[in-house]
Amino acid sequence: MNPSILIFDSGVGGLSILQEIRQRLPGADLHYLMDNAFFPYGVKADDVLVQRIVDVCSAAVADVRPDLLVVACNTASTLALHALRNVLTVPVVGVVPAIKVAAGLTSSGHIGLLATPATVNRPYTDRLVEDFAAHCTVHRFGSAELVLWAETFLNTGTVDAKLTPHLQRWIDQQPQMLHVVLGCTHFPLLRDALEQRWPQIQWIDSGAAIARRVETLLAGRGLEARHGILNCRWTGADDGAQGALRFLQALGTVQQASVLSVGNPIQQPSAV
Ligand code: DGL
Repeated sequence: MNPSILIFDSGVGGLSILQEIRQRLPGADLHYLMDNAFFPYGVKADDVLVQRIVDVCSAAVADVRPDLLVVACNTASTLALHALRNVLTVPVVGVVPAIKVAAGLTSSGHIGLLATPATVNRPYTDRLVEDFAAHCTVHRFGSAELVLWAETFLNTGTVDAKLTPHLQRWIDQQPQMLHVVLGCTHFPLLRDALEQRWPQIQWIDSGAAIARRVETLLAGRGLEARHGILNCRWTGADDGAQGALRFLQALGTVQQASVLSVGNPIQQPSAV
């Protein structure tokens, strides 16, 4: 039987991870789950977010019964992996900023971290920096705008004109950063636009490493050339899922596409 993988994000960002997994394990059944009712995660209070992530993932795991859950969201992973592993029996793979990779590649010792405002400020991120980049200066930039622009890009194909002025001053700082970690799964969706504007920079994301980790955990299952099925579930308005559906349809046939009902009602999100 094909292994089945549930891939979760607040919005379309996790598709950048799904794409890598599809490429590496074409025979795996992939279920994409987006919490668009609660999007965006990166500006919400931690306590509200942990509960919401646990509720949504628990509901989806009970429904899909996957072999593995991939939390394809740095904002969720740097906060809620522990809580998820406490309540779920299925293995949980998290996606966290690839600080270690960037620290291994830099010769200047200056690396960038581009992520959501929540992720750049997390104790989990501080620990990654201490453990793997203590010899570096890590320049952090928290952007909620880039998340929205990645959603717009996936839905319309248009890159927001504010992208360049938004990042230019940060990128221009001296000494120059030549390695920047894309610490939000939405950002690799804007990779072409970033590379075009700042070709001197190596943009580093976690997608390929996550796909390799999933392959290891599934111990060789999912390698068949025959494509596994694709499904899509979301929590909010159908409109918000159209871009994700188009993206998935370009990868293969989407068998099931429907709203996931989450047991607990949505609590009013509070801004941090
Ligand atoms: N894609 C998510 C991440 O990797 C965050 C997007 C959001 O703010 O909801 O952090």
